Amino acid sequence: MSLPKHVSIIMDGNGRWAKARGKERLFGHQAGTESVRQAVETAAELGIAYLSLFAFSSENWGRPKVEVDGLMELLVRAVHAETPSLIENNVKLLAIGEISHLPVQVRECFGQSVRDTACCTGLQLILALSYSGTWDILQAANRYAADLRSGKVEANGLDAALFESYLSTSGIPHPDLLIRTSGEQRISNFMLWQLAYTEFYFSQKLWPDFRREDFLEALEEYAGRERRFGKTENKQ
Ligand code: FPP
Repeated sequence: MSLPKHVSIIMDGNGRWAKARGKERLFGHQAGTESVRQAVETAAELGIAYLSLFAFSSENWGRPKVEVDGLMELLVRAVHAETPSLIENNVKLLAIGEISHLPVQVRECFGQSVRDTACCTGLQLILALSYSGTWDILQAANRYAADLRSGKVEANGLDAALFESYLSTSGIPHPDLLIRTSGEQRISNFMLWQLAYTEFYFSQKLWPDFRREDFLEALEEYAGRERRFGKTENKQ
């Protein structure tokens, strides 16, 4: 089976999952952490090189305070509890996004886990936190402009490869497969630049119901796709 090198997931539907059970939205986020664990374990076991998860978008700050605070607490608890198992599974944790906007406990907890897993050589788990695709492109443009002003880079030398080096995903290959759960079919301001030639897979399942076998099904469908990157199948 042809495996994607980099899988991205927009984990959607936690709120609806909780509502269907007459519970608070946080109950759905809590249930979603088990799906996260299964996706990480499966990706690590199969030898997928990169798994990126859209855990908290720049727009999610606009949710009710109780939900935002609860999600932050959940992230701290999950990262703290799972770090030993990340190390055991040789998984290296990375975080991308406006990390400076996160509460101090979240920054410290992630910083610690990133340091503790820095020597792991297996799956690279990228958590997008306070992340948006427009933010990523703008921060890259601003950092490039600053380097231009200081003379660190030459004017009129900007190409895709140089611009890429300023993105938060610099050094990470573009996602081959993007999975989105809950039946919604949109990018929602995820990696706008990086998804240029990504294959999309939409699942009807809500994120807390998306487990190992669903992940495997997405990989199987990906394996059957023909990727041409704008070229024809045959060069003749
Ligand atoms: C989207 O569902 C989900 C989120 C905004 C948060 C995802 C977070 C987790 C699964 C928690 C654990 C994460 C890690 C990395 C340990 P939604 O709230 O938009 O659902 P809805 O569309 O049904 O309202």
